[in-house]
Amino acid sequence: MLKDILDVLADPVDLSPLRGADDFSRLVSETGHSYDVARQGYVTLAGGKGLNHDGDSPEMVQSREAFLSQGYFAPFVEAVTEAVEDVLEVSAPDVAEPVILEVGAGTGYYLSHTLDTVDGSRGVGLDISVPAAKHLAKSHPRVGAVVADVWERIPLIDGSAHAITVIFAPRNPAEFRRVLVDGGEAVILTADQGHLDELREPLGILGVEEGKLERMLEQAQGYLEPVGDAELIEFPMQLEREAIAAQVGMSPSARHVDPATLQERVAALPERLEVTARAQLIHLRKA
Ligand SMILES: C[S@@+](CC[C@H](N)C(=O)[O-])C[C@H]1O[C@@H](n2cnc3c(N)ncnc32)[C@H](O)[C@@H]1O
Repeated sequence: MLKDILDVLADPVDLSPLRGADDFSRLVSETGHSYDVARQGYVTLAGGKGLNHDGDSPEMVQSREAFLSQGYFAPFVEAVTEAVEDVLEVSAPDVAEPVILEVGAGTGYYLSHTLDTVDGSRGVGLDISVPAAKHLAKSHPRVGAVVADVWERIPLIDGSAHAITVIFAPRNPAEFRRVLVDGGEAVILTADQGHLDELREPLGILGVEEGKLERMLEQAQGYLEPVGDAELIEFPMQLEREAIAAQVGMSPSARHVDPATLQERVAALPERLEVTARAQLIHLRKA
C-alpha cells in the first residue's frame, strides 16, 4: 500500500517529502502541492503540465496479465529476483524494510514475486499507465503504486532505493543515480536479438534491434556503469495460439499491426509453437 512507501515518496515539482492528509485521500508536500490518492489505491505524481503519454492501454495490460499469469516467463522472474537479492546483500545488509523501485512495473508480476521472496522488503511500482497502476496497487500488500513518467523527475527522495528493477521498460540513468542509495544497483532486463523470433515473420511484428544493450550502456555513461558482464537468459516456451495472441497483445507490436490482421495471422499458426525467450540481464551501479 502507498502508506508503506510514503517515507520515500517526493513531490514531483520540487522533491520535498510528502505526507498523507484527509484520511490518506491526498498526499501533500511541505511546499503545499497536493496529489489525490485514487480509490483504487494508486497516486499520480506529475508536476507542471501533467503526463505526456498514456503508456500501456487497458487491452495491453489485460494481455500482459493473461500471458504472465501462465508462468511462461518464470525464468525471467526468477533471475530478476535472484539479482535483487544479491544487490540487497550489499546495499541493505542491516535494513529491515529495504525499498525496491520497479520502473515501468506493468501489472506488478515481477515486483510482487521479489517482495514475496525478500522478507520485509517494500516496493515502489512506478508506471505511466493508469490501467497498469490499478493492477499494481493490488499486486502485493507491500507495493505502493505510483503513476509517473520515468523520463521526468522520479518522485522519490534522493538516496532512497536500495535496488531498482527495469524489465522491458524505459530507463532514466541520471534519475536512477539520484534515487539509489550508495551501494545500490539497477537490475535491467532487456530483450535480446532472437527474442520471440519464431513469431516475427508469420505475424509481421517488430524485431529487437542490433546493439540494444550497448546503446543502453552508452546512454548511461557518466551516471551508471555496468557491474560485470550481462547474463544471457534464454529458454524455449511451448505457446498455444491464445498465449501467442496475449504475448503480441502486450507488446509494442500491438500498436503496429491492425488487430484484425493479427488475429488472422495468429489463426494461421500451428496449434502449438516453440518460441524462444531471450534477454540480457545486467547490473548497473553509480558511476
Ligand atoms: C513492455 S511493458 C513491461 C511491463 C513490466 N515490466 C513487465 O515486464 O511485465 C513497459 C511498461 O512501461 C510503461 N512505460 C512506458 N513508458 C513509460 C514512462 N515514460 N514512464 C513510466 N512507465 C512507462 C508501460 O506503461 C508498460 O507498463
